[in-house]
Amino acid sequence: MTVPFLDLAAQSAEIAAEVLPAWRRLFEAAQFVGGEEVASFEREFADFVGVAWAVGVANGTDALELAYRAVGVGAGDEVIVPANTFIATAEAASRIGAIPVPVDVDPEHLLIDPAAVEVAITDRTRAIVPVHLYGQVAPIEALEPLARAAGIPIVEDGAQSQGALRHGRAAGSLGTIAATSFYPGKNLGASGDGGAVTTDDEELARRVRVLANHGSEVKYRHEVVGVNSRLDPIHAVTLRAKLRRLRAWNALRQDAARRYAQLLADIPGVATPRSLDGNSDVWHLYVIRVADRDRVLAHLAAAGVAAALHYPEPWYSSAAYAHLGHRPGVCPIAERAAGEILSLPMFPHLTPEQQQLVADSLRSA
Ligand SMILES: Cc1ncc(COP(=O)(O)O)c(C=O)c1O
Repeated sequence: MTVPFLDLAAQSAEIAAEVLPAWRRLFEAAQFVGGEEVASFEREFADFVGVAWAVGVANGTDALELAYRAVGVGAGDEVIVPANTFIATAEAASRIGAIPVPVDVDPEHLLIDPAAVEVAITDRTRAIVPVHLYGQVAPIEALEPLARAAGIPIVEDGAQSQGALRHGRAAGSLGTIAATSFYPGKNLGASGDGGAVTTDDEELARRVRVLANHGSEVKYRHEVVGVNSRLDPIHAVTLRAKLRRLRAWNALRQDAARRYAQLLADIPGVATPRSLDGNSDVWHLYVIRVADRDRVLAHLAAAGVAAALHYPEPWYSSAAYAHLGHRPGVCPIAERAAGEILSLPMFPHLTPEQQQLVADSLRSA
């Protein structure tokens, strides 16, 4: 037996009877862009998140860029981004000429540290971006007073947390505006790239829709220089089928997380993750910490267990961001964690037997 990091084929099998006939209908009607499936998914996803508006776009990075632009981030502005996130959170700011400013994370959950945000705010800051990392929700209530005092919007990056709750409120409904990704491996994944922006603010939703449609609300009248960023109907079909199952699939991930916690509890040198108080996490990733991580990773690979790193280094340490000139030590907690974290296989269809093999392999490592 081997254990994959993620079993997407199992998800496809579960939804095939709904998706394949709907795809055929789209194909026969030549409905390749826009249309009822996209509009329905946008309504259903807004309801799921608990906001008034959801705008489908081409991917999560575009969703972030368009959300940043909608709240007024532009060239030369600073955007506060946690050190431990996928590079896209920063990259979307860079694409519009803004400057991503790294802030450190808390040592236990590796979520954005509000105390670090407070220090990082300047008169050039135009957005604070809590990333709901690994299926958690960032401590938004500690950021709200800082954002309010400085008059800065909160842009949530909810790419890894569809369905997660903080004090009963869903990720994607907590900030001024939120971006999410439907990359196939996400908790809610499309059959290719996709993303969405969610907000309660009608004007912000309108701006995102205009920006995503070549800056145009009325055909061939262009208010601003926009982009072409669409959620395609074939993806809306998949997303609608998966959205109907998302609560159940997230519950299976929660069961799997509980099983891991039991199986790994007495393995020396393994620190298992715990939810932040007030959170109902959806375990996009199950990230443990171990000493001598690279040796453990190699041992798991040899045992047929696919593990991964999220992320091997903070985004500002990559060659892409050398020009910002951040030296090692800027975000020491994130930098140290990058050498210890290890993401174990986690997906709704993960079996107890597969988890046992992961635990046995870790113990022997
Ligand atoms: C935290 C985070 N933000 C943004 C993105 C970007 O999304 P996409 O790959 O759909 O552009 C991802 C995932 O890839 C992500 O994990």
